[in-house]
Amino acid sequence: MSSKIKALNERIEQAYLGGGQARIEKQHQKNKLTARERIHYLLDDNSFEETGIMVTHRTTDFGMEKEQYYGDGVITGYGTIDGRLVYVFAQDFTVFGGSLSETHAEKICKVMDLAMKVGAPIIGLNDSGGARIQEGVRSLGGYADIFYRNVMASGVIPQISAIMGPCAGGAVYSPAMTDFTMMVEGTSYMFVTGPNVVKTVTNEEVTSEELGGASTHSMKSGVAHLTAANDVQCLADIKKLLSYLPQSNRETPKALEYELGDEIRPQLSKIVPQSPTTPYDMRDVIKGIIDEDSFFEIHKDYAENIVVGFARIGGRSIGIVANNPMFLAGVLGVDSSKKAARFTRFCDCFNIPLLVLVDVPGFLPGTDQEWNGIIIHGAKLLYALSEATVPRVTVITRKAYGGAYDVMNSKHIGADLNFAWPTAEIAVMGAKGASEIIFRKEIMSADDPEEKLKEKEQEYAEKFANPWRAARRGFIDEVILPKNTRRKLIKAYAMLEGKKTKIPKKKHGNIPL
Ligand code: HXC
Repeated sequence: MSSKIKALNERIEQAYLGGGQARIEKQHQKNKLTARERIHYLLDDNSFEETGIMVTHRTTDFGMEKEQYYGDGVITGYGTIDGRLVYVFAQDFTVFGGSLSETHAEKICKVMDLAMKVGAPIIGLNDSGGARIQEGVRSLGGYADIFYRNVMASGVIPQISAIMGPCAGGAVYSPAMTDFTMMVEGTSYMFVTGPNVVKTVTNEEVTSEELGGASTHSMKSGVAHLTAANDVQCLADIKKLLSYLPQSNRETPKALEYELGDEIRPQLSKIVPQSPTTPYDMRDVIKGIIDEDSFFEIHKDYAENIVVGFARIGGRSIGIVANNPMFLAGVLGVDSSKKAARFTRFCDCFNIPLLVLVDVPGFLPGTDQEWNGIIIHGAKLLYALSEATVPRVTVITRKAYGGAYDVMNSKHIGADLNFAWPTAEIAVMGAKGASEIIFRKEIMSADDPEEKLKEKEQEYAEKFANPWRAARRGFIDEVILPKNTRRKLIKAYAMLEGKKTKIPKKKHGNIPL
């Protein structure tokens, strides 16, 4: 018996060494943790249970049978984060550069299948040179097996990808189909074709960092939802993100205990400036409404004219979608519509109530926007919000103009409660633009056209640039004092807890992709 136990221990020890000490040191020199260290930082102490530790590859080409490592370049298993079950795989760059073999893929698929059966999140820590070159099509098949599972798991369990090293070629499509992609600054990159191929095909000179580093994907492409300064921060962010989410679509997010106090926040009355064209940061409104320090922003540096993220209000987890007049006057554009639509759909998949904060002058005009399909992309947000069956509450702080009024969670598209601040302007367009159109003849024939325009602008603003008409029609449920917003919202979400709505039976809708 003791010799058998010794044999087991020796194998485990060997597995723990991955590709060997020299390669572990090389990994550390690059400011990267090893796969095992990453799992250690991610999960609760002593909670990790490993699956497939003894798996090795089956390749015999190129003398590969002589080079075998227990685990075959990926560590898989389950454990807990803050006491809640999660499944995890971490690619081990010290073994064949974390490249994906047939067996490596099988291990990942096994934990994905378990996660689906049990109903708990799956977290992938990616650090890989891509397809195991010595295996050819078997590796490609392995990728496809994972892709298929990513799609089947979509909307069933939360899927989180952290890119903590290379992620290139078709390998990028697994993270792309998960719910959140996080990247580590300086040590990770993602691209479909690397700098060498880019140079050959397009003659562009570009570094890996420029082409697919964390800042590129967080600011330009929007592929990365979050970036972190290092591995430890990235793993801490995953834990924080999970704290807002339920385990699966069968559950609602766990609420923290909360006792209602007076909840009055006088600072909210001072945020919206007198002038309708002066910007302000909608994050200040968010801060004044939510539980202290509970905002977890997603896609912070991408399409900044809209803010999305998770927060808690009265202990409940909510998703926030908010125009931000600080950037491009809070206008809806191609990127901001896509960003908000994707976030809305995530919240709806996982039973997370939505709060929509509105200060929007309309859709962004221009050839760039039209030629890039603002029609189809704007429609995504309209579709996503219309389709969402979670509790949906709106607060209009200032402008809600034109089509953007409809899109931003208006009552007409199924919002449950719509509030407006007294500063709200719910109109087809701004007073100046409107007056120039409808009073054009009168203005042109006036002795002082400029003065006439001002007069007409004033007249129009008094009539329409306010929340009163919308409130009279019942399009707004209540015009509220800004300082009472937090209290109103806590009570609104408590009231909406039992909401049940059905959409017509269908295979699936056809969102304008
Ligand atoms: C097998 C690989 C490998 C791979 C790296 N290694 N990539 N082994 N298959 N794809 C091995 C190396 O031989 C080396 O082994 C070790 O991993 C570390 O690699 P280095 O090159 O020394 O590391 P580094 O300098 O940090 O460079 C990392 C790298 C580079 C940029 C990822 O290794 C690289 O370019 N690899 C190939 C990438 C690639 O073309 N992959 C296929 C993409 S196509 P030793 O023994 O020296 O430690 C693809 C298709 C997916 O992935 C399609 C899905 C549908």
